[in-house]
Amino acid sequence: MGDHPFISPGPGDLRSPCPALNTLANHGYIPRDGRNLHFWQLVKIQTEVFNISTPLAVSLAFEAIFLCGNGMTCDMKQLRKHNHIEHDASLSRLDAPGNSWSRNPHLIHEMMFRFSSPKGLTFNDIAKVRVAREKLLRTKTGRLDFFHNRIALGEACLVIGVWGEGGGEDFSKRTVSTERIRSFFLEERFPADWRRPTYQLGFLQTVNLGGQLRAIMDSVINKERSDATSGKLVRRTVTFDGVDYELSHSHEGEEDVHANGDAQSHVHTNGGVPQKVVEASQ
Ligand code: HEM
Repeated sequence: MGDHPFISPGPGDLRSPCPALNTLANHGYIPRDGRNLHFWQLVKIQTEVFNISTPLAVSLAFEAIFLCGNGMTCDMKQLRKHNHIEHDASLSRLDAPGNSWSRNPHLIHEMMFRFSSPKGLTFNDIAKVRVAREKLLRTKTGRLDFFHNRIALGEACLVIGVWGEGGGEDFSKRTVSTERIRSFFLEERFPADWRRPTYQLGFLQTVNLGGQLRAIMDSVINKERSDATSGKLVRRTVTFDGVDYELSHSHEGEEDVHANGDAQSHVHTNGGVPQKVVEASQ
């Protein structure tokens, strides 16, 4: 990162709902002011820095320019347009209406808190975060539409596939350290231990990984439903920032967020490292 120091965005600089693009801009890999991002510039930088395949990089840049931008360019601010690429049930952003593009520390801490391996968050943990985010949806179906579901799954797979470590060529075996979650999502800055990933993540791999992630999410949802029916799910409501959150303990002692909230209430940090706190069930 020597030639590309981190500099926080200044007044007038634009940022997007994408932690990766914001990180690239904060390090000057793309314009620091967040303006006039060119299609080919986006393709090139994604492949160079994140080692994703050209088809995957093209598909992401295509979405940016043709769903949000003008001609061959776009500004970061244009990426905020709701239900173009930006969608509800994000990992780190609140739902629209309101500010659905800035990072939300509560949601990010809640995500960090879900690690189940000493190395950080696993593929299963990321699936559980996505389930928790879908529960916050206020739509009738409680789900994202087909297109935005695929986008959200793809983003979650980028977290594990590009920012995760270990697992060799099997992207689903990676873990993302809480330090990396903090760095990319909270600080929008390359982590100190960042190295360009050794294995390239491709377009079809991302689509397949997304399908696997959805299957895990559906099995988590089904298990919770059956736990609820058999009385193994203990529910209680807490209030945080004036919003009621319905929390539940499964019989394994895990806690999930069940309604409009972000579970900041049960996330404690110690020197920035999230600590799991087991709260007494009622
Ligand atoms: C031209 C390339 C890209 C564009 C235009 C783009 C655009 C976006 C947009 C508009 C969102 C907001 C979706 C939402 O509402 O949550 C988003 C989210 C996200 N993007 Fe990107 N992105 C690009 C490349 C990347 C790359 C290369 C990575 C990872 C290496 C990445 C990682 C993510 C993640 C993890 C999220 C989810 C944020 C959340 O749910 O809170 N993006 N992206």
